[in-house]
Amino acid sequence: MTRVIAIANQKGGVGKTAIAVNLPVFLTAFGKRVLLVDFDPQANATFSLGIKPRELSVSLYEALLGQVMPKDIIKNTPFLAFDIMPTSYNLAGANIELVNMKDREFKLKEVIDVVKDEYDFVLIDCPPSLGLLTLNALIAADEVMIPVQSEYLAMEGLDQLLYNVKLINENLGRDIKILGAILTMYNKKNIVSQKIAKDLRRNFPGYVFETVIPRVVSLSEAPSTGKTILRHSPNSKGVHAFRELAREIISKQ
Ligand SMILES: Nc1ncnc2c1ncn2[C@@H]1O[C@H](COP(=O)(O)OP(=O)(O)OP(=O)(O)O)[C@@H](O)[C@H]1O
Ligand SMILES: [Mg+2]
Repeated sequence: MTRVIAIANQKGGVGKTAIAVNLPVFLTAFGKRVLLVDFDPQANATFSLGIKPRELSVSLYEALLGQVMPKDIIKNTPFLAFDIMPTSYNLAGANIELVNMKDREFKLKEVIDVVKDEYDFVLIDCPPSLGLLTLNALIAADEVMIPVQSEYLAMEGLDQLLYNVKLINENLGRDIKILGAILTMYNKKNIVSQKIAKDLRRNFPGYVFETVIPRVVSLSEAPSTGKTILRHSPNSKGVHAFRELAREIISKQ
């Protein structure tokens, strides 16, 4: 069974894309077939994997509108063992175009459903909003993973995201599970990081990954090189963290 996982948090800059581009490498190391879907009009994941959004002739936007077959937009970059559905900046326009379409909340699900059997995991990198795009991503997903930055106010908005998932499950016939919150940019020597970790585990018992993603320079450098952390900085602490995260996700069947 394919597991479709949305990486979502309407808060910006919390580490969604860093997880989306780096986690697949480690899932593939455990023998899993992975598709990464870049569903953010900022196209950060696409760019971080060395694909130039402006040079794409077709991308997720055209697939959403039914102008191309979903499989025809999938790319496999030469050095990656996983596939990516890249996006271009024109996805921003989909917000407006989808509004008048029938079943507008189900467009991404329709795209993913026709290709997902080829994969063990489909990861969706979400934009920082709770708008129509994120709604599409949540509905397309079986599970939601919520990156939480280890900073004050990081938990602000989590309730709203969880409430949206509940509404979708109750009203749109889905059964989306909360896979868990994952602490990102964690600095174990920082008292704020420690406090956020404690508060998160207290407020959401059983829903916080044991693995934390440390704040490491290599993770902030890697995107501009078009490489994953494993290729950019194979000995980084971050590599160990992503391997553990992959293991934890696989074990949470
Ligand atoms: N663990 C980390 N250590 C250091 N820097 C990080 C880490 N995770 C992410 N970053 C950096 O922090 C910034 C924000 O991260 P990222 O783009 O992954 O967040 P995001 O939630 O996807 O943002 P947006 O909401 O805009 O899509 C980026 O510059 C990224 O390189
Ligand atoms: Mg992002």
